[in-house]
Amino acid sequence: MSMHSQWMMFRTLTQDQSVKHQKLKPGTVKRIIAFAVPYKQALTIFLITVVIDALLAVAPPLLLKRLIDEGVLKNNGTLVTELAILVAILAIADAGFNLVGRWYSSKIGEGLIFDLRRMIFDHVQRQSIAFFTRTQTGALISRLNSDVIGAQSAFTATLSGVISNVLSLIIVVTTMLILSWKITLLALILLPLFLFPTKWVGRKLQRFTRESFQLNAEMSSVMTERFNVSGALLAKLYGDSKSEVDQFAIKARKVADIGINIALLNRIFFIALTSIASVATAITYGVGGHLSINKEITIGTLLAVTALLARLYGPLTALSNVRVDVMNALVSFERVFEVLDLAPMVTDPINPKQLVDKSITISFDSVKFSYPTAEQISLASLEAVAKPEVAETGEILKSISFVAKPNTITAIVGPSGAGKSTISALLARLYDVSDGTISMNGINIRELSLANLRSKIGVVTQDAHMFHDTIENNLRYARSEVSAEEIEQACRAAQIWDFISNLPNGLNTVVGERGHRLSGGEKQRLAIARLLIKQPAIVVLDEATAHLDSENEALVQAALATALLGRTSIVIAHRLATVVNADQILVLQNGEIVEQGTHSELIKKNGLYFDLYERQSISGI
Ligand SMILES: Nc1ncnc2c1ncn2[C@@H]1O[C@H](COP(=O)(O)OP(=O)(O)OP(=O)(O)O)[C@@H](O)[C@H]1O
Ligand SMILES: [Mg+2]
Repeated sequence: MSMHSQWMMFRTLTQDQSVKHQKLKPGTVKRIIAFAVPYKQALTIFLITVVIDALLAVAPPLLLKRLIDEGVLKNNGTLVTELAILVAILAIADAGFNLVGRWYSSKIGEGLIFDLRRMIFDHVQRQSIAFFTRTQTGALISRLNSDVIGAQSAFTATLSGVISNVLSLIIVVTTMLILSWKITLLALILLPLFLFPTKWVGRKLQRFTRESFQLNAEMSSVMTERFNVSGALLAKLYGDSKSEVDQFAIKARKVADIGINIALLNRIFFIALTSIASVATAITYGVGGHLSINKEITIGTLLAVTALLARLYGPLTALSNVRVDVMNALVSFERVFEVLDLAPMVTDPINPKQLVDKSITISFDSVKFSYPTAEQISLASLEAVAKPEVAETGEILKSISFVAKPNTITAIVGPSGAGKSTISALLARLYDVSDGTISMNGINIRELSLANLRSKIGVVTQDAHMFHDTIENNLRYARSEVSAEEIEQACRAAQIWDFISNLPNGLNTVVGERGHRLSGGEKQRLAIARLLIKQPAIVVLDEATAHLDSENEALVQAALATALLGRTSIVIAHRLATVVNADQILVLQNGEIVEQGTHSELIKKNGLYFDLYERQSISGI
């Protein structure tokens, strides 16, 4: 084994080894094997090349022995030429096998990475919204990246590492013993000397490496926090750039310091290894030389044994760490499985029903709701600040009942934090109710397929989101087959067409992360255009026009009124002036409907609504 590959073997030592003493869940290995099944054929071919490779490794020293003993020493020129040509042929064949092996191992490895990534992406996107409110994006992404890669190494690096190294070791030692048992035993006596630095430095490196992973994660979380648009904005407005950079520098400095330590240890280890290997070679030369003088062995044997000796230490180093490597890979798999096993809170029913009706009556029947606790929804390992929040949020909604009919507008008003947005979240099954039922045309929404349910609902949230993409693609996200005319129509109705057509790139303008390139009102109008393009049967507007000036708000409302004709609308608003025409108004306070009726009915009641309305009229909101 060459210096380089020894080096590579040794590199595997520096992986995070915190896992060494961890117990695996039963069944993990079985599950991993299931992943290998599609690659049965590729694996077989790969293993065959590994075996051939190991066998070919001992051939050149043996041929060398014949070349010296029977060719050179006996002046047999033809044999020398023949053997030299044979060595060349074998070397080329070996290279060929190596290439084939590498091809298959990367086919398996990359294939496995692809399978796992696709599976995890699919699984994660099915998680309820609660999962995303708890999980740190950075932690999740690193799980999807580094652990998936760690998992695939079980198949390629470890598998080939173990098999080829064990094979090489057996073949090399056997051949050496046959050639000269005396030298071989002598070489093996040096073995403990060789394993000692491996263990010692290995353990130290593990600690440093784990620490450096942690420090790196801390450093990058500073960057991800500060470099997204909202974070950068907050830092500019409230932070001070000197202390920002100082804070970052502290973290970066630690990363740098540990890097120096790791580099130094690596070098010490490498120097120790090469020195011991050199000493072993020297001893072999010395003892072997004497044996050769005494005619106990031939010169060819001496050369062959020393050549083989060089191939002994590589596999030994690799195998001394094999347990850790295998454990690392298995634990990576387990961490991937941990994500895959996290059952989504909101799921499709087993036999989903489909709602086909164009007009939909919504009814809330004694709906109660508390937000789920952290441990119900997320993996603590995906949160940096995994402070266990066992306490429930308390009942956010207490026995909410109302009916919203097609072609009517139901307004929900009330103080901030009353639970208005929560109602709209329950309607789209972003969360499931804790008690009571929500039904559409008499069907409990939990019996509908999620895709069907969500295709019926269009929501414009308080904080409209845009993908980092063109305006057109953001609009088409609601309905991909929409025509150019329909897009223009929707944008005109939402009072955003003039703005778009005045942009140099029009609909092709990229709106940037979260749509931060747009003003609050522009983003809202774009979100309304997106809703109009979707043309859902149920429309939920959560403060959808709150960022607009009164002129634009009036125009958008007028447009909405025509566009939403025949639909079931739920409008959440703070400005009561915008809901005076609603067919019914629900006044929500502390999760309860405290008043219900039309504007004039509620004004007559002289209750909370009246108070709110009075206050707003006086202040002229
Ligand atoms: N994901 C969540 N986990 C825990 N509690 C939450 C969550 N989302 C909202 N809450 C809490 O639920 C309560 C109701 O929130 P909701 O967003 O429904 O209020 P709202 O009536 O829409 O208020 P606003 O008018 O300010 O938008 C609030 O006290 C809020 O802190
Ligand atoms: Mg709200």
